[in-house]
Amino acid sequence: MKSQRIAVAGGQGKIGKHIVEGLLEAKQRYSLEVIIVLSRSGAPDITYAGNSAPVIAVDYTDQASLQSVLDKYKIDTVISTISGHTPDAFITSQENLLQAALKVPSFHRFAPSEFAIPSEQVADKIKLYQMKLPILQSLRRAKQQQQQQRPGGSFEFSIINCGMFMNYLGYGNTKPDGHKAHGYLARFPIIFDLSRRYADIPGDGEKEIIYTHADDVGRFVAAATQLDVWEEYFDMAGEVVTINEVLRMCEDVCGTKFDVKYNSREDILARMSSAPEKFMENFFMEGYLATIDGDSDAIRPNNLNKLVDVKPMGSMIRARQGKNLESIFIIFDFHLWEWRMDFTYTYHASSSFAGPVPIQS
Ligand SMILES: NC(=O)c1ccc[n+]([C@@H]2O[C@H](COP(=O)([O-])OP(=O)(O)OC[C@H]3O[C@@H](n4cnc5c(N)ncnc54)[C@H](OP(=O)(O)O)[C@@H]3O)[C@@H](O)[C@H]2O)c1
Repeated sequence: MKSQRIAVAGGQGKIGKHIVEGLLEAKQRYSLEVIIVLSRSGAPDITYAGNSAPVIAVDYTDQASLQSVLDKYKIDTVISTISGHTPDAFITSQENLLQAALKVPSFHRFAPSEFAIPSEQVADKIKLYQMKLPILQSLRRAKQQQQQQRPGGSFEFSIINCGMFMNYLGYGNTKPDGHKAHGYLARFPIIFDLSRRYADIPGDGEKEIIYTHADDVGRFVAAATQLDVWEEYFDMAGEVVTINEVLRMCEDVCGTKFDVKYNSREDILARMSSAPEKFMENFFMEGYLATIDGDSDAIRPNNLNKLVDVKPMGSMIRARQGKNLESIFIIFDFHLWEWRMDFTYTYHASSSFAGPVPIQS
């Protein structure tokens, strides 16, 4: 059953806001009746594309109050985009949200906060992602219980993933509006730093990475709400490309070779630390290990790309086994710096764009 009344928990956050905007953009097209944002604090409505979503203050420790909000708006679908560095609070919030929703008659769909590499694949390496696992157990249990109690019941959930946000490729663009490449996301270098012409690469760079632009994640999620059936996993991709391929693109666009550090397993282990101030560096190093060990490899086809009509940046997903090799379309810098290339790395000027624009350093 399609979604019409949707609550986005954490929808004021980074990817959350992109998803809320994706829903607001599609509100009329999909005849969405209600879009609300759940937040631990009140805030003005989120307005986008002429539509608005009220931000409702909730207490995630209080199931009854959560239930009352979801009931009041007759919510049928909850999309969780909450995050945080406190696993206990994160786990409790998502669990209470699910348990509250399960008591609401109109509710039938839940998407836990994933939106990266599937947590079940990488949680052995990326410790912070272990906090994403308990809700998956609860979701499977809830579905099983409903099927036992009400065979044919409509409860379903989907673990929605998108790889790495493509926006991070825009890090270090020194053009005046270069920061816009990041959208609402945090600004830090992940592998590539364009302003320093530097690449910090896990392994030999031959591992493929799934990239999806945050705006496209919003569009994919909005489109997924209109599917009659939710599969347990929805995987999407804007582009799938090796790190070395991205490096060559960066060097081509910047017109210079990058200073490149290829990190062996030993290099990565030496950079790991349990010191609190090294939290983010450690998180990235865990991600590097997951990359070189193959934990982050795409193990499923990008089913959401096939199920919905969204044409993401980098949308011409490389056909495998040499079939229908189409050009890759990568946007390093949203709205500012677009370029198109084919597999021989020959530039093609598109009708609206004359060629790659070098970064001013
Ligand atoms: N694919 C990628 O490259 C990538 C990158 C980053 C993140 N992600 C994933 O995307 C998801 C969201 O991450 P994000 O960076 O967008 O999140 P975020 O902006 O850091 O946080 C989202 C919202 O969560 C709420 N929140 C924080 N702590 C909470 C708690 N204890 N209980 C309930 N709500 C809480 C806050 O909303 P209020 O203050 O309004 O309540 C916050 O705005 C995560 O699953 C993360 O792993 C993926």
